[in-house]
Amino acid sequence: MPARGHLPVAFTIRPLTDRDRPWAARLLSARWGSTRMVTRGRLFDAGALPGFYATIEDVPSGLVTYHLARGECEITTLDSLREGLGIGTALLAAVERAAREAGSRRLWLITTNDNLHALRFYQRRGYTLAALYPDALAESRRLKPEIPLLGLAGIPLRDEIELEKRLAAGDRPARA
Ligand SMILES: CC(C)(COP(=O)(O)OP(=O)(O)OC[C@H]1O[C@@H](n2cnc3c(N)ncnc32)[C@H](O)[C@@H]1OP(=O)(O)O)[C@@H](O)C(=O)NCCC(=O)NCCS
Repeated sequence: MPARGHLPVAFTIRPLTDRDRPWAARLLSARWGSTRMVTRGRLFDAGALPGFYATIEDVPSGLVTYHLARGECEITTLDSLREGLGIGTALLAAVERAAREAGSRRLWLITTNDNLHALRFYQRRGYTLAALYPDALAESRRLKPEIPLLGLAGIPLRDEIELEKRLAAGDRPARA
């Protein structure tokens, strides 16, 4: 059912392949300053991670990347280029399916104190606040100096906020 009186727009979600990496890297750089990301004091290249992307009439319209480790799945980046059409929700659902298939116990992500829209978006999709890391961006900036001092709406970019969604054992496919 389309929301807010808009006509629905058809989009397709596909797993990211090596062929997609050049445009995915350009998208990440345009949105986040580079493909280098820092969460919890750890620097990594989001352009090399697995992910899913959305297209509308073959035009890339969204990208999510994730990292599976230690039985958990970190959502490392999520970007929608056509907001309010359901692309962000569909990309998140694709990662959740991949995490369940991999047997992950938990999905988690880091957002920043200025990103009020992300806090709303994830909480409305079953994620809860798991931890606050005050002033974590000071350490992140040592690893990625391109992180700006001011964030969205001119809010000082200062803290990391961890959100999580725990996956019940019954959600996961049975292991042989
Ligand atoms: C957060 C983000 C990924 C959401 O992407 P999106 O494509 O707009 O997500 P959706 O369209 O699925 O949902 C957004 C809103 O549009 C609404 N929506 C969903 N389908 C819709 C449709 N067909 N028509 C109109 N609105 C719709 C949803 O209800 C949702 O509103 P809600 O939060 O009140 O429930 C996007 O805003 C973004 O890229 N933000 C910048 C990057 C960022 O902050 N990433 C996360 C940081 S960790």
